[in-house]
Amino acid sequence: MDGGAMTTLLDVRDLHVAYRGGALWRSRPVPIVHGVSFRVGRGEIVGLIGESGSGKSTIARSIVGLTPVARGEIVLDQGTAHVGRARHVQMIFQDPFASLDPRMTVGAQIAEPLAIHRLVPKALRRQRVSELLTRVGLSDAVYDRLPHAFSGGQRARIGIARALAVEPALLIADEATAALDVSVQAQILNLLMDLRDDLGLSILFITHDLAVVRVLCDRAVVLRRGRIVEQGETVALFAAPREDYTRLLLASHRTLEPQA
Ligand SMILES: Nc1ncnc2c1ncn2[C@@H]1O[C@H](COP(=O)(O)OP(=O)(O)O)[C@@H](O)[C@H]1O
Ligand SMILES: [Mg+2]
Repeated sequence: MDGGAMTTLLDVRDLHVAYRGGALWRSRPVPIVHGVSFRVGRGEIVGLIGESGSGKSTIARSIVGLTPVARGEIVLDQGTAHVGRARHVQMIFQDPFASLDPRMTVGAQIAEPLAIHRLVPKALRRQRVSELLTRVGLSDAVYDRLPHAFSGGQRARIGIARALAVEPALLIADEATAALDVSVQAQILNLLMDLRDDLGLSILFITHDLAVVRVLCDRAVVLRRGRIVEQGETVALFAAPREDYTRLLLASHRTLEPQA
């Protein structure tokens, strides 16, 4: 992907995030993210990689407005600093069903955000959900089923359909495919790439799996203990990492990658 011609969708500038300790004796906030800056272009897939506890999910939560920003700015589409409650950023998680109601049909739950955000008139919602199901590679029969007895891959697709319902510009996937079998994971990654190609969707893909980054991401941002170690185009980064830490990270994962 040509980085030069790409317009910026998400601009994270000098982001600092701190968590307040729960106990009274530790009321001073604990800094977790220390001045992180990166961008996601329109139609670009960017990988945010780092070990467990490095602050990946914290950054994601700040971008969607669930965790307050201590310092710095998060700018979406060159607009206002606070993208928080906007529908333009949607998240998908490892267990998309954690947020679904087990007694309500999948179709009704995909339709819910359409009503909340008044995007589609009531009479047309059923049709819109059918389009979304098709879009993510599911049969329309899924509409009337309850959210049990779906496979991991189907669950992931349903989670993606629900996120797409509000026509977001940016999708944040937080370890969304981590629990899937390798072949199912590959199908979901293909779906995400298709969505990027067809809808111009931007994706921030959070993972600790470097093999996935290599397949999916145009660029990658390497995070360590709340700081960016290095970032760059995936191909260049994997071929010639500049920092020792990135080299170590790549070396430690080399055996997980498919042999060329
Ligand atoms: N709500 C919270 N309150 C206090 N500390 C937190 C909270 N959430 C995460 N942390 C801490 O922040 C650090 C980064 O966590 P997280 O962003 O979840 O990392 P990652 O997603 O990279 O595994 C960890 O040390 C974690 O224990
Ligand atoms: Mg996390």
